[in-house]
Amino acid sequence: MLNNIAFKDYKKSGDIHGTVLYPAVMIAPVQKNILNELILENDILSVFDPFHGSGTALYEAMEISPNIHLVGCDINPLANLITKVKLQGVKANVYKDIEKLKSYLADPKYIYPFSFPNMDKWLRKDVFESLKVIRSAIMHIKDDQNRLFFWYMLCDIIRKHSNTRSSTYKLHIKDTDAISRIENKVAENFIAAIEKNADKFMHSSNNFILYKCDVLKKMKTFDNKNFDVSITSPPYGENATTVPYGQFSMLALYTIPQNDLELEGWELENYSIIDSNSMGGINSEENINEYEKSLIKPYLDRISVSKHRKVIRFFSDYFQFLEELCRVTDKYIVLTLGNRTVDRVQINLTDITKTFLERRNFCNVKQAQRDIPIKRTPKVTSVVHQKPVSSMNSEYIIIHKRNF
Ligand SMILES: C[S@@+](CC[C@H](N)C(=O)[O-])C[C@H]1O[C@@H](n2cnc3c(N)ncnc32)[C@H](O)[C@@H]1O
Repeated sequence: MLNNIAFKDYKKSGDIHGTVLYPAVMIAPVQKNILNELILENDILSVFDPFHGSGTALYEAMEISPNIHLVGCDINPLANLITKVKLQGVKANVYKDIEKLKSYLADPKYIYPFSFPNMDKWLRKDVFESLKVIRSAIMHIKDDQNRLFFWYMLCDIIRKHSNTRSSTYKLHIKDTDAISRIENKVAENFIAAIEKNADKFMHSSNNFILYKCDVLKKMKTFDNKNFDVSITSPPYGENATTVPYGQFSMLALYTIPQNDLELEGWELENYSIIDSNSMGGINSEENINEYEKSLIKPYLDRISVSKHRKVIRFFSDYFQFLEELCRVTDKYIVLTLGNRTVDRVQINLTDITKTFLERRNFCNVKQAQRDIPIKRTPKVTSVVHQKPVSSMNSEYIIIHKRNF
């Protein structure tokens, strides 16, 4: 099942996963190969993705076995929206709703006002005005499934027309010239995108649950051995200095009306709060036991003391997650992992995870390494002691099976 995982010629643009941008997504055909074998050979009835992101694994599981029970969790409301739309699809009347949108845009009746913090910084005035019209048009669509699909498709349009650079997932302002060169094609790009992609959303599952919350808390509420397979790609470090999923999502989250998002109430307080509350974020505790400490000590010994706290904070959450994952998984754990670098020291998250899982009676049955061909996180990310530091450029897939 991990014999050929390169998929060098795979292009997301050909399938549903290419219809929206989300950071650090898994490669769909790789997940599909793994799930195919596990589901078809092992009497698998449920699949859990604790950090579902854009829903790659859950969607692929649905494609293999439409009635399988799917459970996912993510702290980011944009990930929740994206995955919900992939799993619930659109209604057959979506094309009528597209026509309604078009006639509304040709002759807008009422434009709902909206604003958000610092919007002048991130959206040029005319772009904001165009978005306001489209937003109002979408708000007039009555069908919930179709309306959420339209929000989903609007996300990339917002980002592409915003004043942030496309070279990074962080919000990083373009220079003035580049901002003035942005072509305002908000309406035409949006209509083209929904017309081109609506037919990719015709499959749906009626057996899924998505939780929009902190998975560390949510997992405590699940029974032992609740899921046959757990499959995920966890964050590989705290969001702030690895992948800022929250910051990446904020312009879309501020634009989509709150009643169409799954919110706990704190998510829109500021641009960095989702990242702060994510795994290993500044709001996490530093609480690891002696065994866990022994797993990261070889790395800590080589990392400057000023960076210990952030590493310990991340692993405090990560080990808690692995502990719970072993408890709630009945048969297989499949993880796609990256080894990040702190202070030029590469932390081997894959080895650490394998050792932890083996001790908890999940033995490793397969492992594979995959080069990451295209990355928005540059191969060289920062400079420490005047030397460039390379970021991850391989990912590792490990499959563990419960011993008893
Ligand atoms: C590597 S991404 C998952 C990508 C996904 N596999 C895909 O293919 O799109 C990790 C995800 O973990 C989520 N996350 C981080 N901390 C979390 C937490 N404490 N609880 C739930 N989700 C969290 C992030 O929002 C992000 O979507």
